[in-house]
Amino acid sequence: MTSTSPAQVFAVITAAGSGTRLGSDRPKALVELDGISLVEHALRSLHSGGVDCAVVTAPPERFEDFRALLEFRDVVRVVPGSPLSRQASVAAGLEALAQTAAALSDDSPVLIHDAARPLVSPQLVSRVIDALRAGEQAVIPGLAVADTLKSFHEVPEASAGQAQGAHYVEATVDRAGLVAVQTPQGFPWKVIRELHRRAAASANSEATALTDDAGLAQQAGIPVRIVAGEGRALKITTPIDLVFARAILAEDARA
Ligand code: CTP
Ligand code: MG
Repeated sequence: MTSTSPAQVFAVITAAGSGTRLGSDRPKALVELDGISLVEHALRSLHSGGVDCAVVTAPPERFEDFRALLEFRDVVRVVPGSPLSRQASVAAGLEALAQTAAALSDDSPVLIHDAARPLVSPQLVSRVIDALRAGEQAVIPGLAVADTLKSFHEVPEASAGQAQGAHYVEATVDRAGLVAVQTPQGFPWKVIRELHRRAAASANSEATALTDDAGLAQQAGIPVRIVAGEGRALKITTPIDLVFARAILAEDARA
């Protein structure tokens, strides 16, 4: 990775997952939209939005493939992620940043982004960076929840016409105070480094790991600023999400 000035912005892109729910013949980050892999879409969006250098965490067994695809650019470094959890993959990416980005300073903005959100706009990336430059310690995109939300319980044993394992509503959850959270999530370097170091023990299994980085900031009592998220930053999780993503790209092409 080339040397950088203190003003530069860094990113870790998580791409080490297998994509079980998508059910493709390849790791999710290599699935293509318009002939371009999800991880390359994500990289483009981050760079357009102001990220200078990025570390990509790849599935360890496909590390060389990811490197061949991405590392011809001197602003991209590919490292093996972890099969244990997303949190462990982010920690591996941060470690690589520490070792390779000589000009990282305590206050350097660092964005953590999922390759599974390939169509995030450069404008959203810039919003997160701007909030960090304004002094925030943790920044996340949040989107109002459209569906009515209800909590439920599962029937433990069959009885009185209720089948075992069936779900019954407990209550309606007030969605007014809720947001659905996206990436990129942003932090000053010294904050995200310390949060992941302190939480290293919980990264070793999906059961104890957190599903986002802001969760670590919350545990540490750091205020987490919410900026406006967007529909096009949707996460590719199941096959229907690819249909939505292709429709968004078709719309872009018409604009
Ligand atoms: N991720 C990662 N390392 C892991 C698990 C997930 O880097 N051990 C990354 C994925 O590559 C993805 C992001 O974290 O970019 C969000 O995870 P998710 O959407 O759950 O992707 P997968 O874990 O790949 O999918 P699934 O849970 O369906 O297997
Ligand atoms: Mg997963």
